[in-house]
Amino acid sequence: ANKPISVAVTGAAGQISYSLLFRIASGALFGLDQPVSLRLIEVDPALRALEGVAMELDDCAFPLLDSIEMTSDLKVGFDGVNWAILVGAMPRKAGMERGDLLGINGKIFGPQGAAIAAHGASDVKVFVVGNPCNTNSMIARDAAKDLPADRFFAMTRLDQNRAKSQLAKKAGVAVTEVSNVAIWGNHSATQFPDFLNARISGRPVVDVIEDHDWLHGDFITTVQKRGAAIIDARGASSAASAASAAIDSIKSIITPTPEGDCVSLVVPSRGEYGIEEGLQFGFPIRSDGTSWRVVEGFDLDDFAKSKIAITTNELIAERQEIKAILANS
Ligand code: NAI
Repeated sequence: ANKPISVAVTGAAGQISYSLLFRIASGALFGLDQPVSLRLIEVDPALRALEGVAMELDDCAFPLLDSIEMTSDLKVGFDGVNWAILVGAMPRKAGMERGDLLGINGKIFGPQGAAIAAHGASDVKVFVVGNPCNTNSMIARDAAKDLPADRFFAMTRLDQNRAKSQLAKKAGVAVTEVSNVAIWGNHSATQFPDFLNARISGRPVVDVIEDHDWLHGDFITTVQKRGAAIIDARGASSAASAASAAIDSIKSIITPTPEGDCVSLVVPSRGEYGIEEGLQFGFPIRSDGTSWRVVEGFDLDDFAKSKIAITTNELIAERQEIKAILANS
């Protein structure tokens, strides 16, 4: 049998993890011949609830689940892990300024990045879900100087999946017909879901969907504001779909990207498309199963460029704010 892959998940007692952990343990992420060890990390007040989650994982009798460790100690939690999935974050509460949120999360993701670099396996990779996920992944990356920057990812896949589903519905086709959907920039309401380079059954979306006002208008805002729409309807934020997107994301990093397609991931910019180097930025990516690269040659017209400028500026502002906050603390 294969040696277990060791996976740390923070925020393990939260609602995304309540879906994510069961899918990882079932083999949905690493495959049906790959055992997994889970290292579940929570803050102390949530450790009791976490015990309940672990009891349920036991009760599934998953053949591939090798072991479960529960801890609030980062050194123990990240010890020897091959993947660190950072889901836990401080949610934005009513009346909270973005600066407050960035500051609190800076103090979570810095120490986590440092602990991953110090204690993780030599091949450790880091995938950030907790918001603001681009900037949180940048904080973790900066605190983990010993690790190559290309090991740090954050999640725009939920946005990609949302965009794909909206395009398929509008065109009246199956989601499997929609390819090459890129999400540019920040995982926030400023993101740019790219319909210009997307394809339906291999043809440009703009040739298949005739309602270009919809593409430039409601399509974009529906994807940008989908998170808020779900909170309005469900009374709680996206959880199962976020977990599903996290599974899709990590799978897309460790599996070659299908020919002619791309996947949306937040990665460190090396200056592609003129995006400032070092920002953790949502790009179209191709993976060969071990390494990844930003897909070059996407056509961006003035409309796309202006949208990408907005989301880039937001990320630059977040970076400035967090630098100032961390420097003063
Ligand atoms: P939740 O509030 O149900 O769970 C978060 C858990 O994290 C809680 O159990 C909390 O105790 C824990 N936690 C907080 N600080 C921690 C720390 N320092 N170390 C370890 N655990 C810690 O939240 P939910 O719904 O599971 O969402 C988690 C995060 O994912 C949120 O930040 C949310 O905004 C984000 N999210 C990101 C999406 C994306 O597309 N990138 C989509 C949906 C949610």
